[in-house]
Amino acid sequence: MKIGVVGLGFVGLSLTSVLSSKGYDVVGIDIDKEKCKKIITGISPFFEPELEKGLKKGLKKKLKISDNFSLINSCDFIFVTVGTPQNMNGSIDLSIIKKAISTIGQSLKKNKKKPIIFVKSTVIPGTMKKIILPILEKKSNKKAGKDFGLISNPEFLQESSAIRDTKFPHVVVLGDYQTKFMKKAKIFFMKLHPNVPIIITNHETAEMIKYANNSFLATKISFINQLSNICQKIPGANIDDIAKTIGLDPRIGKLFLDAGPGYGGSCLPKDMKALINFANISGINTTLLNAVEEVNTKQLEQIISLTKQKLGNLASKKITILGTAFKPDTDDIRDSIAIELIKKLLKMKAKIIIHDPKAIENTKKVFGDKINYAKTVRDALSKSQCVIIMTQWKQYKKLNNNEFKYMEKKIVIDCRRMLIEKQLDVDYLAIGLGKE
Ligand SMILES: NC(=O)c1ccc[n+]([C@@H]2O[C@H](COP(=O)([O-])OP(=O)(O)OC[C@H]3O[C@@H](n4cnc5c(N)ncnc54)[C@H](O)[C@@H]3O)[C@@H](O)[C@H]2O)c1
Repeated sequence: MKIGVVGLGFVGLSLTSVLSSKGYDVVGIDIDKEKCKKIITGISPFFEPELEKGLKKGLKKKLKISDNFSLINSCDFIFVTVGTPQNMNGSIDLSIIKKAISTIGQSLKKNKKKPIIFVKSTVIPGTMKKIILPILEKKSNKKAGKDFGLISNPEFLQESSAIRDTKFPHVVVLGDYQTKFMKKAKIFFMKLHPNVPIIITNHETAEMIKYANNSFLATKISFINQLSNICQKIPGANIDDIAKTIGLDPRIGKLFLDAGPGYGGSCLPKDMKALINFANISGINTTLLNAVEEVNTKQLEQIISLTKQKLGNLASKKITILGTAFKPDTDDIRDSIAIELIKKLLKMKAKIIIHDPKAIENTKKVFGDKINYAKTVRDALSKSQCVIIMTQWKQYKKLNNNEFKYMEKKIVIDCRRMLIEKQLDVDYLAIGLGKE
């Protein structure tokens, strides 16, 4: 069996790394030639724990990486993992996936097998039937369900644990009719992920499951963030104890209850916007989802207001930002709240210096020489008038008076409550902590 993966980003390259290291005959395709060149040498174009290990193992076995689409002609399974970003108005931008599907359609013409195309990219309900299927049939001159299979297979991995999530997903969702292709797909996934529930449903439901998943996670985050704002007004209240306790209730669950600067990253913000846009066009008033977004936006204002509370006018104030990646163990800064915060602080003419263990290069692409970059936390804190901890990198937990003594003003705004238990000789403010 030969497997093609089209789009070697976080999702596609993680899948490629896992399948090829297990010995599957995989060909990974990306239109980005430079990216392909890097991957061929066993180097990942982005930071993701454990990814390179599997990639190197795969390359020693049968893995091929290329920008040449003709290599998918001989594939039995083709996974589509290209990006589905957002338009300016928040709606989903399908131009990348349409292009990729068009090329796959042309290659289907020459494929003597009857392959199954799995769409892992997140797409709004109706996309598979109304857009992807017609493009594939037109370009290939073949019929879906007869000459090739087309299955929605949404992905639930999280960056920073992408390899573990790809190896051990909590669920496999397969959307299509009950055809011979579905039978084949089910056997493949049962072997790949024994004991993992496989949900077989139709395309639209599979597409909607992904949005249900992400919008629920965003809702949990905004819920706890709103509560954290209330806690800040209650002297002595601590949002972490509250989150930990309610998380013990199995009806609630403990994950995604970490109060902080708001949700960011390449998925939750764009998927929320796409769902709201889709629902509104369908005539649904998304009161709850709008509120989730509003709370998220206001969380950033909260941080700015705490900073102003301590520093007054921010013009020319030296502010340190610790962490620009949207979460620890990744270098991804797409829709990172820290990046939004820096943009706003720059508008207020603050002087910014940042530190991040992995995301400096990506941050430089956004800000160039408009801000300063520090190699060490100590350098980042030196002569600073306020530090804002944005990303929960483990090393920030070790910060102590020794590091803070280099600051001009020892003001610490801890958006993750990482230093809450330390005896610090600083003016300490934290999201979700009621000052006594
Ligand atoms: N990143 C995540 O955490 C995550 C999790 C679950 C689902 N998803 C969804 O999976 C999809 C992919 O996300 P990602 O973060 O991996 O994207 P990404 O932007 O990191 O990677 C997409 C890759 O596709 C390549 N590409 C673009 N057009 C192509 C074409 N015509 N042919 C071949 N390759 C092409 C790009 O060069 C890029 O390498 C999105 O729909 C996303 O919403 C992402």
